[in-house]
Amino acid sequence: MSLLSALQWRYATKKFDSTKRLSPHSVDELMQAVNLAPSSFGLQPFHVFNVTDAGLREQIGGATMNPGQVNSASHLLVWAASTRVGPEMVSEFADRAAAIRRVPRESLAGRETLINSQLGKLDEIGRLAWAQRQLYLAMGVLVAAAAEAGIDACPMEGFDSASVDRILGLEAKGLRATTFTLLGHRASDDPFGPRGQGAQVPG
Ligand SMILES: Cc1cc2nc3c(=O)[nH]c(=O)nc-3n(C[C@H](O)[C@H](O)[C@H](O)COP(=O)(O)O)c2cc1C
Repeated sequence: MSLLSALQWRYATKKFDSTKRLSPHSVDELMQAVNLAPSSFGLQPFHVFNVTDAGLREQIGGATMNPGQVNSASHLLVWAASTRVGPEMVSEFADRAAAIRRVPRESLAGRETLINSQLGKLDEIGRLAWAQRQLYLAMGVLVAAAAEAGIDACPMEGFDSASVDRILGLEAKGLRATTFTLLGHRASDDPFGPRGQGAQVPG
């Protein structure tokens, strides 16, 4: 399936077939797509939680506008942006980059200074917004990758972020719940599916 055909096939799924589960391999491939998505300076200032614990999923579902939609999905991904964008994060990033590329750490000093000077122009709110922009870009890549793999998805912002932060202990981790992605396979009677009122294709 071409990417365009895949995007024509996809829609924001409101009701998943809860009997159809995604394989760990499929989810792993989608997470690889997230990892390969571009981000400013390559910093990837966010974390994606694949919430598998049934109790946590129920609590998180209860913090959304549509718990039934969350419950029906095979997988719930919670995207959390970093609230700790700053020199420490940049230094850790440079450490990792030096180790992975097997280059002297000092060779990344100029890059580190440049990143810090750019991020230093932002205030706290601006840094969080910057992190969230990188997160949304990666989520777009995930939704496209899911469609190409024939996996249904729904991005979801309709939740109480303070509750989700509390449920997952995100504040202590320097993270802020920003959006979700539900993954799975559409229910044949999803009213928003191709045969329902949200139809993009008649039939
Ligand atoms: C950032 C974002 C947040 C969204 N939040 C929700 C949501 O909370 N609940 C929901 O059912 N759909 C949500 N959607 C899905 C949109 O409503 C949907 O993508 C839009 O209506 C276009 O429909 P389509 O994706 O089926 O083409 C969200 C989409 C995006 C990109």
